[in-house]
Amino acid sequence: MTTGEPLIVLESVNKWFGPLHVLQDVDLSIDRGEVVVVIGPSGSGKSTLCRAINRLEPINSGSIVFDGQPLPAEGRGLAKLRSEVGMVFQSFNLFAHKTILENVTLGPIKVRKEKPAAVRERAMQLLDRVGISSQASKYPAQLSGGQQQRAAIARALAMQPKAMLFDEPTSALDPEMVGEVLDVMTSLAREGMTMVVVTHEMGFARHAANRVVFMADGQLVEQAPPDEFFGSPKSDRAKDFLSKILTH
Ligand SMILES: Nc1ncnc2c1ncn2[C@@H]1O[C@H](COP(=O)(O)OP(=O)(O)OP(=O)(O)O)[C@@H](O)[C@H]1O
Ligand SMILES: [Mg+2]
Repeated sequence: MTTGEPLIVLESVNKWFGPLHVLQDVDLSIDRGEVVVVIGPSGSGKSTLCRAINRLEPINSGSIVFDGQPLPAEGRGLAKLRSEVGMVFQSFNLFAHKTILENVTLGPIKVRKEKPAAVRERAMQLLDRVGISSQASKYPAQLSGGQQQRAAIARALAMQPKAMLFDEPTSALDPEMVGEVLDVMTSLAREGMTMVVVTHEMGFARHAANRVVFMADGQLVEQAPPDEFFGSPKSDRAKDFLSKILTH
């Protein structure tokens, strides 16, 4: 569901780690409601791209605009950005000593200063939506990996973000739990959430993405709608990458 209205705009973004040029003149515009899947070899800069968008990594040059505003560097603006851009990582990053419900309500209550009762109600709805409302009073270690990752998604959604970034959200899961997490992500995509998803799940890319972006060596090498990208990749790098991941 793309709207033609940009929400996230990167222009000539460059990022170095010491001598390593990990994002090289990256231009990328993501519309409201668009689902962009980012793929590419290990070390190509996919995580760095995600982290740059919510300013977990500062960039060296270029610009990133989110919802019409350049990314704030610090202070309240940065806290607001972080709450508007939900992030889900490979490792679930839940607070081990808090219940699932507390994990989900913490941000809205502490950061947003929302009323606890209303936040708890919203959190229970979110846990229901991701299929784990019966686990609300348990601790993360008592849940399966798939349930923990769904809790992490509910926690990000509790902040009512304008966009969600997923960095290999299913890579640490046992195979039988991958589907339940992808199902939640697919329904979010269908509901119009703006999403940037780094994943090796090509089924998800084919069915849920509006666009596939292929990165290699810090560059956006190629981007196209999934049918076009998987059906007729243009660059040798993309062809080579696809032949490696699609044959096993
Ligand atoms: N904090 C850091 N300090 C120094 N180098 C880093 C740092 N983070 C990442 N790098 C390097 O930057 C490059 C891009 O890393 P990044 O994690 O963005 O790649 P990736 O595409 O997400 O890879 P993967 O598929 O393995 O997750 C790699 O060469 C990596 O080693
Ligand atoms: Mg990565």
